[in-house]
Amino acid sequence: MRLKGKVAIITGAAAGIGRASAVLFAQEGAGIAAVDLDREGNEALASEILKAGGRAVAIAGDVSQAADVQRIVRQTREHFRTLDILFNNAGIVMKGKIHETTEEEWDRTAAINVKSMYLLCHEVVPIFLEQGSGVILNTSSATALRSVADRVAYSTSKGAVLALTRSMALDYAKNSIRVNCLCPGTIDTPSLGRRLSAFADPAEARRQFIARQPMGRLGTADEVAQAALYLVSDEAAFVTGTALSIDGGSAI
Ligand SMILES: NC(=O)c1ccc[n+]([C@@H]2O[C@H](COP(=O)([O-])OP(=O)(O)OC[C@H]3O[C@@H](n4cnc5c(N)ncnc54)[C@H](O)[C@@H]3O)[C@@H](O)[C@H]2O)c1
Repeated sequence: MRLKGKVAIITGAAAGIGRASAVLFAQEGAGIAAVDLDREGNEALASEILKAGGRAVAIAGDVSQAADVQRIVRQTREHFRTLDILFNNAGIVMKGKIHETTEEEWDRTAAINVKSMYLLCHEVVPIFLEQGSGVILNTSSATALRSVADRVAYSTSKGAVLALTRSMALDYAKNSIRVNCLCPGTIDTPSLGRRLSAFADPAEARRQFIARQPMGRLGTADEVAQAALYLVSDEAAFVTGTALSIDGGSAI
């Protein structure tokens, strides 16, 4: 019970890394405010946690919209009364080189992958400052640390998440607010499934993705959730401003 009595907002909780983290954090004792655009998937996740004896509330919303974010934080506090952890995980992948990327695609990627973190942190940090504690975890990506072809808007947004994490970690280091980020490599989630299905031969594309991996396999959402658990737990009390790679050695 490494998160006993804690309350966590997790965005992008209905699928992939967010879902695995919500289930794991709940098993470790946290109350989960599960946030996602996908109302049905989010409610299914919350029911699963409740059935297993955990604490959860499903809150549907778009994290790139200020009014939704204000409501998400308000509903979380009305439901649980407290708030200890913010896991900014919702994100989208945008394919394309810069000359192929439309302004709308660029803005949407920035809004969902980066502005959402500004909006949530803007609401949550005053709460953490008042209580004198809090933990923020952001999902960046391996693409923030090294070049990946054909992902310019996505890579730029994830680089911004890394810079946001480091800036905030320094700004609040003396306030007992820790801010870290995850840099996952290629993780087998519904998002990856959608990327593969865009290829003419998705099974062959999957084989090629796997062939590029030093460990000869993709990562799992559960493996990323374990890293997330460490960073939000008290075991990481002296860890702030860090970017933790969970990439099976792809950066080597
Ligand atoms: N899967 C990978 O290989 C990989 C690698 C590196 C980083 N990441 C990052 O990890 C995070 C999670 O990725 P995943 O693979 O689990 O993705 P996923 O698509 O499987 O799940 C993401 C969830 O976020 C939700 N979401 C999307 N936009 C939203 C919005 N505006 N408001 C609220 N919810 C929204 C979706 O509905 C979905 O349930 C993302 O930030 C992604 O960029 C993933």
